Amino acid sequence: MNAPWPPGPPPTPKTSRLAIGALLLSIATFFGVPLMLFVVPNFVTASGAWEALVVAVVVSGVLVVSTFVLAIVALARLQPNDNAGKLWAILALVAAILAPALGAVAGFFGFILAAGGGPHGRPLRRRGAPVLPPVSLENSRRSWSSDDGLAAGIVVEALGRDVRDELARRWLEDARTEHASVATFAKLTLDLLAAGAPPLLVARASESAADEVHHARIAYAIASRYAGRDLEPLPFVDAASPSPLEAAPERLERLARESLIEGVVGEGACVVALSRAADLTLDPVLAAHLRRLAIDEARHAELAADVVRFAAARLPAATTSRLAESLNDRLPLVVAEVDLTSHGRYTSSDFHAAIVESRAMARALVESLVVEPPSTRAA
Ligand SMILES: [Fe+2]
Ligand SMILES: [Fe+2]
Repeated sequence: MNAPWPPGPPPTPKTSRLAIGALLLSIATFFGVPLMLFVVPNFVTASGAWEALVVAVVVSGVLVVSTFVLAIVALARLQPNDNAGKLWAILALVAAILAPALGAVAGFFGFILAAGGGPHGRPLRRRGAPVLPPVSLENSRRSWSSDDGLAAGIVVEALGRDVRDELARRWLEDARTEHASVATFAKLTLDLLAAGAPPLLVARASESAADEVHHARIAYAIASRYAGRDLEPLPFVDAASPSPLEAAPERLERLARESLIEGVVGEGACVVALSRAADLTLDPVLAAHLRRLAIDEARHAELAADVVRFAAARLPAATTSRLAESLNDRLPLVVAEVDLTSHGRYTSSDFHAAIVESRAMARALVESLVVEPPSTRAA
């Protein structure tokens, strides 16, 4: 057969599948790598699980290299007149080159935002994950953040905008955790009732919830003072979500474990860290508030130790000794951060040291309970 004459324009090539594949992969890389490296530091600083960061870096590296190689291969195999394919492959190449730089910047800010000691308060957990109340930035109704005079006494006028914003962010984080602690202690009160605890223990749990209401209000007021606007929580709907049904031995073991980790260790560490923060702050109003907080946290840590004793008196010795294993969890990560100790903020290294100290106390408590189990009557 003869070719048609005159010859028409050359057929438009089908854009190479490789180029389209490279483009799609580059979209995942361009957005996924920075997002992952921004989010993972929050998880790492909270859990101390460095492996998560290693995994995130390796996955990011694989994504970047695959996108790069695929784009180069696509460019090499494209037909000379496949302009669309060339454009897709070049875009994929650019994304693969930019993604590591963006990822590094996102990771840096992720660590900066994740820094700042540990919050004061006992987290409310749902299926093991902490839940916090949402916050409104546009709420004109002052309720939780209304100042009883304490926050107004904190000197903020001489501070730069950056410092004020950072202090507002950290106090808001505390406020949300303290707010969640109200629900934690309310739940502890119900758990103690269900476990047949003596009235004094129930009353102390209930009073601790009221302490946390006070702590949360002051923290919202202080955060609002630094922010220069009202930071109000929205309804904390998760506080009322039902708990899964548990058998009595499971409830007792959970009570003991949570009280040991979050009360004896967590609130115990807050006592040490808050006292140190009070010593270092230059603001006398904040120093006095931090000392009062430390006294309340000491009371909560002591309540937690008594809940552990109460539960241990009703649990098999093997279960009690197993509690010590939960003290081997990784410590929160020490990260470089802006030093705000003169403004009442303890550093993550101070909090780290405080946790080491309170863990030793928790371990001694468990060992004493294993050696000499408390009688159910004494508890
Ligand atoms: Fe608190
Ligand atoms: Fe507390």
